[in-house]
Amino acid sequence: MQATLGKIFPKSIKERFVHPFLIRRKAAFLARTSKRLDICAAQFAHVLHLAGGFSLKGKTCLEIGSGWVLSHALVCYLLGARRVIATDLQRIFFPSALTFAVRESIESIPRDLLAPFADYSEVRDRFNRLRSITKFTEKDLNDLGIEYISPVDLAAKPLGIPVDFIYSLSVLEHVPKACLEPLLENLVRDLNPNGMMLHCVHLEDHQDFEKPFDFLGVPASNYPLKSEIYRGNRLRLTEWKNIFNKLKTADSSMLYSYVRNGPSLPSKIDPSVRYTDENDLRTTHIGVATRKMAS
Ligand SMILES: C[S@@+](CC[C@H](N)C(=O)[O-])C[C@H]1O[C@@H](n2cnc3c(N)ncnc32)[C@H](O)[C@@H]1O
Repeated sequence: MQATLGKIFPKSIKERFVHPFLIRRKAAFLARTSKRLDICAAQFAHVLHLAGGFSLKGKTCLEIGSGWVLSHALVCYLLGARRVIATDLQRIFFPSALTFAVRESIESIPRDLLAPFADYSEVRDRFNRLRSITKFTEKDLNDLGIEYISPVDLAAKPLGIPVDFIYSLSVLEHVPKACLEPLLENLVRDLNPNGMMLHCVHLEDHQDFEKPFDFLGVPASNYPLKSEIYRGNRLRLTEWKNIFNKLKTADSSMLYSYVRNGPSLPSKIDPSVRYTDENDLRTTHIGVATRKMAS
């Protein structure tokens, strides 16, 4: 039977993380830090550049695991997307936090960094439109062509809406190994021919970034599903390459893979963690581009 997250996501943990007060507090914090619009524009421009550029003008975009603050969906809007569908396994989006994400960004950064991938004047006009929104609501997003669909488990079935572009940041490492291939296959099904998906994946132990590799030594018997979801699924670079290369009707390439030297590795790596060499274990961040073949 195919694993789906709806069946295996532990309810008590889910409830803990979707408490409205916690969502609001976390969203407000993120909107002023890592989800500021200028920071997200820079991240997006970086991977688009490494991927050789891809115009979003008039396109339909899908973000998976969009989280608390939909700043990357706004970046797709700035780049001229006609429709942006932000999805998540759990409903944690807090619309008004976007107000800070937009207001506190340095306005020249999104404009200048996105200009190589879209018309500069149009990016500027769209940015001004965002700035004119005094307090973001879901309706404001809908007016920009952005919709939020959650909860939805795309490992269980495809979205069923053809899309041209798919993006995720810090999501795939939280997907249990058993669900990863079904999820990616479903995403490729949703992609139009010549469509592209970009996934940025963070491979460190999310419980302790100072000891980012210790979790690789934890025996599988002490590493339950909830650890895969919150600490990371422990897949290493080579396994990610294998999984992406298995996708039918699509070609994948590694945009970047960063190796972190310094922190120690555990003296014994758990046998469930497959790897080829030390660099494989020490790779902490990867970016993958997948292009759906023309039919
Ligand atoms: C670390 S957060 C990143 C959120 C957002 N991408 C960002 O950069 O702020 C991980 C996100 O992945 C979502 N997620 C976890 N497992 C998922 C899955 N199987 N399918 C879709 N989203 C998932 C979580 O609900 C959460 O929103």
